[in-house]
Amino acid sequence: VSDGRRPDLSRLPPDVLALLRRAGELGAERGEPVWLVGGPVRDLCLGASNVDVDLAVEGDGPGFARALAGVLGGSAVVHDRFLTATIRTADLAEVDVVTARAETYERPGALPRVERADIGEDLRRRDFTVNAMAVALAPARFGELLDPLGGVADLAAERLRILHPRSFLDDPTRILRLARFAGRFGFDPDPETAVRLREALAAGALDTISADRLRHEVFLMFAEPEPAAGFARLAGWGALHAVVPGARPGAAFAEQVALANRVVGFSEKGAGWDPAVAGLVLLSRGASDAEREAAGRRLNLGPAARAALALAGRLDERTAAVQAAGRPSEIHRAVRDLPYEVQIAVLVSLKDPEARERMMEYLRRGRGTRPALDGNALQAMGYAPGPRLGAILEALHEAKLDGLAETPAAEAAWVRARFRLPDGAPVS
Ligand code: CTP
Repeated sequence: VSDGRRPDLSRLPPDVLALLRRAGELGAERGEPVWLVGGPVRDLCLGASNVDVDLAVEGDGPGFARALAGVLGGSAVVHDRFLTATIRTADLAEVDVVTARAETYERPGALPRVERADIGEDLRRRDFTVNAMAVALAPARFGELLDPLGGVADLAAERLRILHPRSFLDDPTRILRLARFAGRFGFDPDPETAVRLREALAAGALDTISADRLRHEVFLMFAEPEPAAGFARLAGWGALHAVVPGARPGAAFAEQVALANRVVGFSEKGAGWDPAVAGLVLLSRGASDAEREAAGRRLNLGPAARAALALAGRLDERTAAVQAAGRPSEIHRAVRDLPYEVQIAVLVSLKDPEARERMMEYLRRGRGTRPALDGNALQAMGYAPGPRLGAILEALHEAKLDGLAETPAAEAAWVRARFRLPDGAPVS
């Protein structure tokens, strides 16, 4: 079945287009039709010029993925239980491969049972019509759109429409996906979908989502360029507190959380912190301690994220302290005990651009600055060990932050001038 329309693949980067052709040829050689499917097809229809590569194979997805990885000089990580694989190569983004499948749900919220099926069935098991389209990659039909459920019409009408009445009950994470896509694209649920949404919410569908899946969805929401749009949809449906207990997006939340996502780019990722945690802290600013603990439990957050969340109530006070701070050492005193995510939340909560710039500079450089001299070096200079040595080191750290002691020699001179050693005898 095809309506014969062709999304414009020619705008794709040449290496991505070549990859799609190669995948289609390989599928033809193996007798397994291959399709570009889901999000990338939606995005192409919306005019995107670069998209993720998500492939569906009518046949053996993992086997196809291994063969394609061989052709591309990459490697495939296979998830046999789900009949899926991810291909990694040196120079292309990841390629996700699924075996075209039908899914059956044994109980609401559980993971589905998966069986091989053709592409038509594979599209029918998906969440929304706009995500249930495919583009043929087989050489004979390369570029042809498969849209049996009316995705193109719904894109044009800016509508998110489920494929069958039980969709939200089968997979309640789709409620969060609905909010996320509605927020991202500014689309609305079609009337029937809105009715089924309300029924599912009234039936407590969100409560059947496991903590780990819920956290995954919430973190995906925070990864959106404008996360507040999705949270606003949930709030509008009266569903926000079932997702993040105590969440209260204030007037400034949208601007702050979007800024936090942009700011995150300046520091290295994977350094043991998560931008979504900064978002959760901002979202929970007005929550009570008990509500924030409930959010930590509902989302099964790790200890570091819970510790960050527990400090959300101090955001206003610390933001005011940083606003009042002039020197880097004063900023340091105001935020040094906070985890990085909370410091980011403070940064984006500052209204004054100059204060923001100073805080940004602290996060970029000051935060990682340490004096060259340590306790041993100070003892070698004649200072006695003990609590006073700690105070000297902290004072030196602040002097260093304020640019008063740039080199090791300047540090030593600064310490000697500030903390005099009486006639060579150690200061005690
Ligand atoms: N899908 C679904 N139900 C879910 C999750 C996913 O039907 N609960 C289907 C949709 O067809 C979706 C595809 O699987 O398009 C891929 O999922 P995902 O990568 O999460 O969605 P994308 O649409 O690609 O989203 P994004 O643009 O955020 O990458």
